[in-house]
Amino acid sequence: MVHLGPKAPQHRKGSFFDVPEVLVHELHKLESLLTVSAGTLKKITDHFITELEKGLTKQGGNIPMIPTWVLDFPTGKEKGDYLAIDLGGTNLRVVLVKLGGNHDFDTTQSKYALPEGMRTAKKEVLWDFIAECLKKFVEEEFPEGCTAPLPLGFTFSYPATQHSINNGILQRWTKGFDIEGVEGHDVVPQLQASIEKFGVPINVVALINDTTGTLVASMYTDPEAKMGLIFGTGCNGAYYDVVKDIPKLEGKLESDVSPDSPMAINCEYGAFDNEHLVLPRTKYDIQIDKESPRPGQQSFEKMISGYYLGEVLRLILLELASERQLIFKNQDLTKLNKPFILDTSFPSKIEEDPFENLSDVEELFNSVLQIQTTAPERKIIRRIAELIGERSARLSICGIAAICKKRGYKTAHAAADGSVYNKYPGFKERAAKGLRDIFDWETEEDPIIIVAAEDGSGAGAAIIAALTEKRLREGKSVGVKV
Ligand code: BGC
Repeated sequence: MVHLGPKAPQHRKGSFFDVPEVLVHELHKLESLLTVSAGTLKKITDHFITELEKGLTKQGGNIPMIPTWVLDFPTGKEKGDYLAIDLGGTNLRVVLVKLGGNHDFDTTQSKYALPEGMRTAKKEVLWDFIAECLKKFVEEEFPEGCTAPLPLGFTFSYPATQHSINNGILQRWTKGFDIEGVEGHDVVPQLQASIEKFGVPINVVALINDTTGTLVASMYTDPEAKMGLIFGTGCNGAYYDVVKDIPKLEGKLESDVSPDSPMAINCEYGAFDNEHLVLPRTKYDIQIDKESPRPGQQSFEKMISGYYLGEVLRLILLELASERQLIFKNQDLTKLNKPFILDTSFPSKIEEDPFENLSDVEELFNSVLQIQTTAPERKIIRRIAELIGERSARLSICGIAAICKKRGYKTAHAAADGSVYNKYPGFKERAAKGLRDIFDWETEEDPIIIVAAEDGSGAGAAIIAALTEKRLREGKSVGVKV
């Protein structure tokens, strides 16, 4: 990998000899804009800890820190058949989970692509689509019919305030969703109404954030798991706090909930630093925010998550091509001018190109943007993609570091899932390096590591549904005092 910058001038000479000086100069500027130093990571982490704490207070802060009413740790012994659905950024997944009761589970699943335009459709279209997919799935999996309604764990990966485990009032859509009539409303009755309309024998018993599901599913199989994280279309994390350390719950708890009880918290830390105090935002980030359906929201997420990485690249390339006229001369830029034309797979494929002459990149630009690239342009493009990917990975881990420091974890498995974590080249290595930069460990092995999570929105949702059913059977509370 070629690195420009003061520490590696020899690379620049060696590999960028054919790149015009003015472009190399632009690259230097981008490098200093997009590179996040160890010092900055430490500063961000310190502010992150303050913000996590603030979110738990009555007065609140930027990070919502939502109590999820998951009041038990999974034991690994949870058993039974559960349905789970996961409404993600691009797909709906329906899963039948058979919890084995011995830290094990089996899943059968179907994935349904969200039809084009779903992000901005009418709410009935969304809920009916989910209900129809559920109907298809249940008819296939239970051809003889069901004797009792199937319990369903609904993974809803958006910030939703929970007054109990089976409700969730959507605070705001994220990741480009913008469906009217859902924000400010409980999503569970909306879905349940469509389920009933389609006559599917299903009862929504728990509403679960994807990070909470990831946390619980990972703890079911890995006792070292301390948090569940999603690095995907969006970004977020969940961990267990202790009830007595959550001031905003004061006066809201039923008497059966002990002050020492665990409570899973869905941080919703994509909203970290909406005040713009510490994040090194660039003009590209500011533009993305301004043009998004929810300006001022999800500041952290907009710099690092998969929904935005291709867009950051597009804005940089557009500036170099259109404003500065330094690349893609005399080319038709119609496609490049289209917001969000580049999804995350685009920068990801650029980084993956194994060929010295970057022929995959050439092909990619040809097919997606109808732009012919020169060899020097491709080198620049690759370096920019690296910078964007590296920034994302390094900033992403500040949430992990902050949770560990807040909870005093000296060792931990941070269980991660999501398309960026799973597929973005170099993300894992860069994230691990970022953690080392923050903690300055002297040990040979890193004490806090990111591990691949168990299936949060399948198994996690099922385990949470099982934990909820058990609490209800025992007459224990699953929400605020009524
Ligand atoms: C949502 C979170 C979610 C994360 C990862 C964010 O946009 O607000 O609820 O956990 O994406 O899917």
